[in-house]
Amino acid sequence: MSSILFGTNNPDKLREIRAIVGPPLQVMSLREAGIDLDVEETEDTLVGNALLKARTYHQASGLPCFADDTGLEVDALGGAPGVYSARYAGPDCSYQDNVAKMLREMAGKAVRTARFRTAIAFVDSEAEYTFEGVVEGTITEEVRGEGGFGYDPLFLPEGQHQTFAEMAPADKHAISHRGKAVRKLADFLQTYRPA
Ligand code: IMP
Repeated sequence: MSSILFGTNNPDKLREIRAIVGPPLQVMSLREAGIDLDVEETEDTLVGNALLKARTYHQASGLPCFADDTGLEVDALGGAPGVYSARYAGPDCSYQDNVAKMLREMAGKAVRTARFRTAIAFVDSEAEYTFEGVVEGTITEEVRGEGGFGYDPLFLPEGQHQTFAEMAPADKHAISHRGKAVRKLADFLQTYRPA
């Protein structure tokens, strides 16, 4: 398989996935496939939402498709925001709103361990497969760095001295939740042959 549709309307995810997945696999965007469709994340698990998006965009395009759903799980918040990470600060909130809410909720907390988890679902006309990537870390006390997106300025990966937003993109991708999950997908596709 040389070309695969990535079912996202998030340009930050598209940029990262393209940086992680090199040739010979070509990642096609929804725009390139002529699909103007937003899928509401109505499931209560990351895998459920990833499957929902991959199935919907596969049906709309007829192309082999994958989708990513990601959550930040914070131990001191009982695993929140998890699957609800995108809307943590309310409907239509910005990355900055989510980061500001996280800083407020974590103010004064001694236990700051957290993890990013990405579920990737791949769907074609034959089958469905899912892959997961996790990175452990801690929530910083203040924002650090300008790079990345979303919660990156607040997330210090285990064993690192830079947040995801302070790192060079390639360094983030080498250890990140999304990097791990996408490399599993890419490895699988190297030998996958639809019947
Ligand atoms: P979703 O996968 O689009 O539902 O994203 C969930 C939330 O996590 C959104 O607020 C994203 O901005 C955020 N997010 C997803 N991936 C990353 C990442 O790699 N770093 C930081 N935040 C992320």
